[in-house]
Amino acid sequence: MPSTPSPPCTRRAPDAGAEAAIEVGGLGKRFGRVTALDGVDLTVPRGTVHGLLGHNGAGKSTLVGVLATLVRPTRGTVRVAGHDALRHPERVRRRIALTGQRTTLDLTMSGRGNLLMTARLLGAGRRAARTRAGELLDAFGLAAAADRPARTYSGGMLRRLDLAMTLVRRSDVVFLDEPGTGLDPASRLDMWDMVRHLTDLGTTVLLTTQHLEEADRLADVVTVLADGRIVATGAPEDLKRRIGRRSATAELATAEDTATAVRALAGAGLRPDGDHERRTVTVALDHDEDLAAVVRALDAAEVRPTRLTLSEPGLDQVYLALTGHRRTEAR
Ligand SMILES: Nc1ncnc2c1ncn2[C@@H]1O[C@H](COP(=O)(O)OP(=O)(O)O)[C@@H](O)[C@H]1O
Ligand SMILES: [Mg+2]
Repeated sequence: MPSTPSPPCTRRAPDAGAEAAIEVGGLGKRFGRVTALDGVDLTVPRGTVHGLLGHNGAGKSTLVGVLATLVRPTRGTVRVAGHDALRHPERVRRRIALTGQRTTLDLTMSGRGNLLMTARLLGAGRRAARTRAGELLDAFGLAAAADRPARTYSGGMLRRLDLAMTLVRRSDVVFLDEPGTGLDPASRLDMWDMVRHLTDLGTTVLLTTQHLEEADRLADVVTVLADGRIVATGAPEDLKRRIGRRSATAELATAEDTATAVRALAGAGLRPDGDHERRTVTVALDHDEDLAAVVRALDAAEVRPTRLTLSEPGLDQVYLALTGHRRTEAR
């Protein structure tokens, strides 16, 4: 029997296969007079979780729609999973999964039934479909309810089933548009686990969220979108360091003490923000020496705070500083 020659060694240059999962340049989208996206550039490396953060109407869903080939941009370039999404949307569609904010479930069927049907429609054999459905039911805590009609599920269970439906097919890039919305805290933790599990398998995840904690805990890199433009991008820790601010808050015993503290701190060149109703004074700590200056100023004015607390910058602050919007949690 002739021995088959082994295939030539096709070792690639180290970065030949390292094309980003998502590459967007100069992206713009107008809906009539509304500019939903305005010059968006974005690169998401493979196997990472990218968080798209922004208030209602910032353009998150439009961007996801463009990446998932559902929305045609007005201008710009879009590459997803190695394909040009404008010239070959069908190639992109085969490599991605998208979960929207509304679900396409058959409520008369069980959770397992929905998953099995989707798997079979995607071409899986009977056994492979059962295995995948079982894995997903376990991962999303739906095993106990797997064989009940989906119409008996709670809102949170339906959201989890919807997410599971998105993941039936193993995709290179998964888009999750506000996956945490409508989930109770426990289900949200499960969802976070699932997302991490996806990246372990090399999948790239782009998720939109209005929940800052979700972005903070889950995303390797966060992009903050406001009115269709990117206003910041970076690892959550970097954003907090760059844009966030440490602060100290003193709680005072009386209204008089509060007023004295505000005067003393302002006199020391700090910028106190007094809340006379709550009898607190908050001072931004812009420099390393500011905390000591706060203590000295209060002591010199003979004000004894009942409590002094330090706050590290949170993503909330970063978001507020960048967008001027307080977070609005859509639930
Ligand atoms: N199909 C559409 N037709 C007209 N305007 C739209 C359409 N989709 C989105 N918009 C508008 O584009 C802007 C961005 O919307 P969207 O991408 O849904 O924001 P987000 O998901 O961040 O809340 C909003 O002003 C919205 O009203
Ligand atoms: Mg949206």
